[in-house]
Amino acid sequence: MKKDWFQKKVKQFSILKGYQKPEKHSDTLKLDSNENFVISKQFQRDLIDSAQKISDVREYPLGRAEKLIEALSKYLSIPSSMIGIGNGSDQVLDLILANFCSKKTRVLTSEPTFGFFEERCKLYSIPTIKVPFSKNMTLDLDTFLKKSKNADLLYLDSPNNPTGFQFPKNDLQKLIRNFDGPVIIDEAYGEFGDYSLVSMIKKQDNLIVSKTFSKDFGLAGLRLGYFVGNKNIVDVFSRIIQYPYPLNSIAIEVGILALQKRKLISEIANQIKQERKRIIENLRKTSAFEVFDSKANFVLFDAKGADRRIYTALVEQGISIRKLGQIGKHKGCLRVTVGTKEMNSKFLLAIRDLLR
Ligand SMILES: Cc1ncc(COP(=O)(O)O)c(C=O)c1O
Repeated sequence: MKKDWFQKKVKQFSILKGYQKPEKHSDTLKLDSNENFVISKQFQRDLIDSAQKISDVREYPLGRAEKLIEALSKYLSIPSSMIGIGNGSDQVLDLILANFCSKKTRVLTSEPTFGFFEERCKLYSIPTIKVPFSKNMTLDLDTFLKKSKNADLLYLDSPNNPTGFQFPKNDLQKLIRNFDGPVIIDEAYGEFGDYSLVSMIKKQDNLIVSKTFSKDFGLAGLRLGYFVGNKNIVDVFSRIIQYPYPLNSIAIEVGILALQKRKLISEIANQIKQERKRIIENLRKTSAFEVFDSKANFVLFDAKGADRRIYTALVEQGISIRKLGQIGKHKGCLRVTVGTKEMNSKFLLAIRDLLR
């Protein structure tokens, strides 16, 4: 029966796992989603208050997204014709996959890669080829280059979630120059890493760099994402693919105002990097863990089989981190977000007590 098609689709989708959000615990220190709590709630409230004063939410935000793009253009030193925006970078990635890719598009990425991206490929039946991380959670460029010969699109989150790995800049540039097809570099955590590839966009028209206000700007709840790419891609994306009004008025105005505070934002990113170092050094003091280097605002460590116990014990003490389980040969991986100094100290103290 022809009308069965919808039921069949429902059945086909129902077996998918979907993106796994963290468990919700009330009244815990939230170190499970790579958010940014170093920026104060009051600072963000003030931005929202100012945004509210200049917005009239009875109107569609006509012309305001363009103002945000102009502000981004100044911030990134990239022409506005090369910048597109989205409802979080999740939505940017989703629209690219849904509209440019098909069952025939072989996507090359890493294992592990950003979970949402992987689930979206599954949703659209886009085949993926994965290059696994090595035992010390690094990627091998030559393997990537070799495998890229059989791929149509390349996606790398750089720094990678959940490992925190970032290729040396030259390696990543080499990969992009060598690849005869589109390359998406997801720089959600770029500001905590060693470099950004945004300026490469001017010379490399196969490159798309996606970025977000969720991490360094601490605005995850507002869902503000964007990407830079060549003019033709940005034109079809913004004019045809993207919704007419993907961002709400308040988010747009906050984005514009937040970009004026870039100095403070980058100081905060530096503080997070310093705290990341402290967390890594402290976790490395015990042989109970294997702790991996990170270029992001989180740290991945293998608790060697004690992951569940540690995760549960931390929740009981009011600290929520991310339980990831097996990654490659590492059986019990946990990921902790770098929070404020106080949050990180509480986490480290709790870990110390647990290992006594
Ligand atoms: C690698 C990576 N890319 C993109 C995103 C999504 O960011 P946004 O909040 O802009 O949708 C995340 C969020 O955790 C991420 O880890």
